Amino acid sequence: MFQLKSEIQLNEEYKINSAINKQLLLEYKNHFQNIIKGGGEKAMSKHTQRGKLPARQRIDYLIDKDSSFLELSALAAFGQHKNDFPSAGIITGIGKVHGRDVMIVANDATVKGGTYIAETIKKHLRAQEIAEQNHLPCIYLVDSGGIFLPEQSKVFADKTDFGRIFFNQSRMSAKGIAQIAIVMGSCTAGGAYVPAMSDETIIVKNQGTIFLAGPPLVKAATGEVVTAEELGGGHVHTQISGVADHLADDDIHAIHICRNLVESLPANKLVSKEYLNPKYHSEEIFGLIPSGGKPFPDIREIVVRLTDNSEFHEFKKEYGTTLVTGFAEIYGQKVGILANNGILFSESALKGTHFIQLCNKREIPMLFLQNITGFMVGKEYEHKGIAKDGAKMVNALANSKVPYFTILIGGSYGAGNYAMAGRAYEPRFLFMWPNARISVMGAKQAAEVLLTIKKDQAKAMNMEVDELELEKIRQQIIDKYEEEGSPYYSTSRLWDDGIIDPSRTREVAGRALQIISNNINENSSYGVFRM
Ligand code: COA
Repeated sequence: MFQLKSEIQLNEEYKINSAINKQLLLEYKNHFQNIIKGGGEKAMSKHTQRGKLPARQRIDYLIDKDSSFLELSALAAFGQHKNDFPSAGIITGIGKVHGRDVMIVANDATVKGGTYIAETIKKHLRAQEIAEQNHLPCIYLVDSGGIFLPEQSKVFADKTDFGRIFFNQSRMSAKGIAQIAIVMGSCTAGGAYVPAMSDETIIVKNQGTIFLAGPPLVKAATGEVVTAEELGGGHVHTQISGVADHLADDDIHAIHICRNLVESLPANKLVSKEYLNPKYHSEEIFGLIPSGGKPFPDIREIVVRLTDNSEFHEFKKEYGTTLVTGFAEIYGQKVGILANNGILFSESALKGTHFIQLCNKREIPMLFLQNITGFMVGKEYEHKGIAKDGAKMVNALANSKVPYFTILIGGSYGAGNYAMAGRAYEPRFLFMWPNARISVMGAKQAAEVLLTIKKDQAKAMNMEVDELELEKIRQQIIDKYEEEGSPYYSTSRLWDDGIIDPSRTREVAGRALQIISNNINENSSYGVFRM
């Protein structure tokens, strides 16, 4: 087993790192505390005066009392749209209902009437994607005015726009993935299709409404004068139209009915294996994340703080050492871990390819701990064929049948992002630590590349290079990359599934493994490996 350098905890650097990284987490928590207020006090008091529960409280009542909610992309749309759409107006995440993992999608009606902007749709679709991949029943707590009309050109007509929500519901229903809706407020126009496409729908009386056009539009279109309740309230839909199946007295009653419906669904596979906690405290991770641009310590220092009994059975320990691979258990669940320990060389990529094949043949899910500046560059490495060796790893990953998930613990740059299961490679989950960075390359490298191009252009045209102008451009590029490489920039745009507390990584990884185990794919097959 890997021997830890215990003195690391005592030195000054550890203490500085710890303070800096705890501060980064605190910043995240402050942002989170702000966004959970939803659309602000005025909208919230209007909401609760109508007898409605706030969206997050609805979720608390829905999930099992002793369970936790794995919230996804809480800071979606953060820093965009003048911060008018906290959490993009929708809360998504996985919770347990009668012991079953379910995907919960809850509109927050205090945020612009629960309407959808581009980030809302992206978040809703991502939740459905996770549900479909992991066979999780979906529960929609619907309270939405549909599309945010000023943004219609960005949210209506394209393939992965609003209409995709209903397409997904239909496809999941066909696969036997239960679709349950509770209508807890307005469901107008497109919004009406969420309950209408569900397998079972509950509606709250004198509160929930479903109609293709609301009373004002009906009056404008046909002259008919009708109240919202007469047009599409709970009684209409459970007694006359049949659009809904169960009538509830209020939010709590509706949630109770929903919990009963879930109880009759097939149970999750049980993970009941005994496990031992890691030998090292997870809080120590804060002291291990480097600060001031220094490199990470040996990645095994992190790995042994995540795994049961801190055990890690390494594969090819002495070969391709910049990629650490091996088997472990997290809460008694088997996992193959691939973790960066420096830049990727041909040997590391070959080792990664071999290990991915092993995991596939043994049907063991994989966890990628990503901290990668990219593949090694230069004549020696190109001549050795690093491009084809990197391609092998990407090929093995893209065709992997066993599921995997990714945690960005440091940098995520260039093709390293791809080979280490970045978003484009469909990890079942992708989380980030608050210190993580993501961009095509580092800020300084990007500035150098672009300035070299500018200088070469000037030289080709026999023009003088204005050093002051170049310095200005350099700073602009660095500033831009600094902003766009931040985890907040990423999470706002749903490039990830959320920022997590580094000291809770074991819990999140354990939960992810449990969810993944609902749907482990069978045999693997690969395309052509370039030799
Ligand atoms: N597009 C853009 N903004 C909308 C909106 C929509 N579809 N629906 C509501 N809003 C905005 C309102 O302008 C208001 O914004 P403000 O806080 O900046 O003033 C905010 O959301 C709350 O709306 P309000 O009507 O005050 O709240 P409410 O709780 O009484 O009613 C709705 C909410 C959704 C029932 C009601 O606004 C409504 O019927 N909207 C139209 C729904 C519709 O026709 N959608 C079709 C789109 S497919």
